[in-house]
Amino acid sequence: MEIPARSVIERILASGYQLSPAAFEALGRLADPDPIVDSLLAGLEASENPPLVIEPQHLEHAMRGVAIPVTGCPAPAPPVAGALPAAAGVAPSAPTAPPAPALAPVPVAVPATPAQAVTATPDAEDAAPPYPFPAVRPPPRPPLGKPGRVEVLSGSEACSIEGTIEDFKKHFINRFERLQKVLMERADVVGAVGCSAIPPSDKWGKAKVIGMVTSKREFKSGAVIAELEDPGGMLKITFGRDERLKHKIARLMIDEVVCVSGRTKGGRDLIVDDIMWPDVSERSRPRAGEEAYAVLTSDIHIGSKTFMRESFEAFIRWLRGENGSGRSKEVALKTKYLVIAGDLVDGVGIYPNQEAELSIKDLYKQYECAAGYLSMIPEDIQIVIIPGNHDACRPTLPTPPIYKDYAAPLYALKNVTMLGDPALVSLGGVSVLITHGRSLDDVIPSLPDCNFREPHKAMAELLKSRHLCPPYGGKTPIAPEAIDRLVIDPVPHIFHAGHVHVEGVSEYRGVVIANSGAWQTQTEYQLSMGIVPKPGIVPVVELSTFKTFELNFN
Ligand SMILES: [Fe+2]
Repeated sequence: MEIPARSVIERILASGYQLSPAAFEALGRLADPDPIVDSLLAGLEASENPPLVIEPQHLEHAMRGVAIPVTGCPAPAPPVAGALPAAAGVAPSAPTAPPAPALAPVPVAVPATPAQAVTATPDAEDAAPPYPFPAVRPPPRPPLGKPGRVEVLSGSEACSIEGTIEDFKKHFINRFERLQKVLMERADVVGAVGCSAIPPSDKWGKAKVIGMVTSKREFKSGAVIAELEDPGGMLKITFGRDERLKHKIARLMIDEVVCVSGRTKGGRDLIVDDIMWPDVSERSRPRAGEEAYAVLTSDIHIGSKTFMRESFEAFIRWLRGENGSGRSKEVALKTKYLVIAGDLVDGVGIYPNQEAELSIKDLYKQYECAAGYLSMIPEDIQIVIIPGNHDACRPTLPTPPIYKDYAAPLYALKNVTMLGDPALVSLGGVSVLITHGRSLDDVIPSLPDCNFREPHKAMAELLKSRHLCPPYGGKTPIAPEAIDRLVIDPVPHIFHAGHVHVEGVSEYRGVVIANSGAWQTQTEYQLSMGIVPKPGIVPVVELSTFKTFELNFN
């Protein structure tokens, strides 16, 4: 990747803007960036609502000398109602799989909405939030065991970056060193050295090296050449036409850290015979405690016309013990945790023409409505919330918690813990890694055997890479913090994400993997992009046995 001149980056940062990875790369390709940056900064200054993050299209506009378009990236403070940064994450066209078997009896009955309820309508712009229930807390539930306890292990750190070249360097060195350490714990990686540290020799010999994949080129002949890098230098690696390696080569992602073994002469090139990823060893589980349930959800999209209000209200009633019977009701009464992995609201200005699809067009009111719903959940259920790309937040990963200025009513709820993305929490001793899952947009298309109908498969691959977003510079903007918080370390007991609006549950080496779908039917935008969601299905994990099942509220 071409790196732009330091002076150019510094001018942009000093003016209060950030650069997306794609814009960073585009700037690096410009032979004479200064006049374009002059035009860019002048255009931004003249813009009424300049973006916070510079994207390639802003550079294009600057090159053509036209006004900077308002793309909706307001600065985080002071807060204003209006557009938010970032585009909606999307999944490609996919047939919808049949719904997973639900826990019987399924809580699908939706009692009539109380007469005093006010609901959002397409024309109810800026109307009172559609609180579906009387605004009072439900009565306490019968005590069933110990109260839930959320311990925050990470996810509340300050997120600040300057975006200098030095920051990028520190970020990637930190990623390399931490994943190298994880790799070195593998028995089959013993004896490996950094890829720039192979002892020179004029004879062919075996070697195992660790490096970050910085390029990968495939040739018509079937041969593949890649480059590995460590802080000391670079090594070219060549894969022959080895059928056994084919799948592993296809699986190799840019910017992930791997160990390769093979033969080398001189230490400058290596012919690879195997690839090892950091991976996870079989995750041991905590000693079984008392029966307790964690309910995992995400992508509620309150404020959208396609928010599945009736199904979501049925879900809330189920959590209150008013819906369902027998075993289903017992699970509800023993639910101690509700985890929401982002996109609580639909936001404003997230994708083209979104306004036409909003029932609540004011972001503050979207959060008021969300808090109204969550306040109806019994207070003994601990709720953990992280942001998604539709929420009011900085668009880069790691993402801080949803801005309090927008979501004050949520912060006022006693049983709610607001965290950033990613977050690691312990729910009564069971660790849960929560991320919105935006990187799935980048990872799924680049991995063999992965697709948007089964997002849990790509999540297992992220565990294998021990990183939440290995490729840098794709659709997921990554903040180059000095410590790469997207490295998965330690390995959680449960890995929870959302974002693709398709639920899926599986297990990988003892780690429960859950993608929690959505509460939104297909939007016009999703229709135009060929996205078929699978909403209204909720994964539930019993925390003493790790038994996982799904509830269908459709
Ligand atoms: Fe979403």
